[in-house]
Amino acid sequence: MTNTKDDVICYCTGTTKEKIKELIAQGIHDLDRISRETGACSGCGSCDAEINNFLAEHSSGA
Ligand code: FES
Repeated sequence: MTNTKDDVICYCTGTTKEKIKELIAQGIHDLDRISRETGACSGCGSCDAEINNFLAEHSSGA
């Protein structure tokens, strides 16, 4: 699958929403773990809130 610009949730690391969905499917629901797995939020940190929202939307309560 090709990633479009819209799929990227963390621009510093190029982490895509699709990648985060994969991790959620593996039972990883918290920003800490997501960050460790992907590097997301390890740059400017401005994606933090967006990733949290995405997690809240896509995980059923963790
Ligand atoms: S956009 Fe995710 S750390 Fe900068």
